[in-house]
Amino acid sequence: MFYFFDELTSTIDEARDERYVHGDVVVAERQTAGRGQRGKKWSSPEGKNLMFSAVMDSSFLRVGEQFLLLQTVALALVDTFALWGLDARIKWTNDIYIGDRKIVGVLIDHSAGEGGMLRRSGAGIGINVNQREFDPSLPNPTSMALELGREVDRREVLERFYECLMTRLGELRAGSQQLLNDYHARIYRLGVPASFELPDGKRFTATIRGVGPGGELLLDNGRDTKSYLYREVSFII
Ligand code: BTN
Repeated sequence: MFYFFDELTSTIDEARDERYVHGDVVVAERQTAGRGQRGKKWSSPEGKNLMFSAVMDSSFLRVGEQFLLLQTVALALVDTFALWGLDARIKWTNDIYIGDRKIVGVLIDHSAGEGGMLRRSGAGIGINVNQREFDPSLPNPTSMALELGREVDRREVLERFYECLMTRLGELRAGSQQLLNDYHARIYRLGVPASFELPDGKRFTATIRGVGPGGELLLDNGRDTKSYLYREVSFII
């Protein structure tokens, strides 16, 4: 079920309420404390974009398998954009890109159950739908309207995404190899040399060979392939 709010601190906070169950989607027109990755704020002009959190039952996954949910959500977003003819890619770990520009940000949080299993997860998603002008401090944003050259019905995007998410979650539950294959095929800059930076500022060029089962990025530096966890390396766009 969809729950629409004019204003929330963040859909992530609201969706943590136990009254929301698997398949519920909490949508806000305004967030007073919208959150982005790495402790950053997420802000969005009113009436232009989509900001929501989708609640998912994750009790069939072990703690440590969280990345599978991120893959599932990312693919559902890619599937959604394909319905509008947009060729999206998944930029490790949490971003969806069109070309070299970011169109979606995702933040997922999980709560654990018993016996080493997850229990419940919330995917907080911000999709740039009809915004055409962005804060110049943002490095490389885009939106559906900028890519398509026309406005898009936000409710339709939300509803199509919901269908795509339910389909991909079904595949995840079924242990489908298709999900993993599709994810791999949609990785941003897969198989082409790209620039990366380590936390100490050292830069290097490497080729993405894939993403491992725990979400680690596999980078081939020409001599060997090393795996990097979230925050151990970042892209230079
Ligand atoms: C990122 O920094 O790329 C992640 C951004 C996630 C933004 C969405 S908007 C809906 C949900 N509520 C939040 O406070 N953040 C997420």
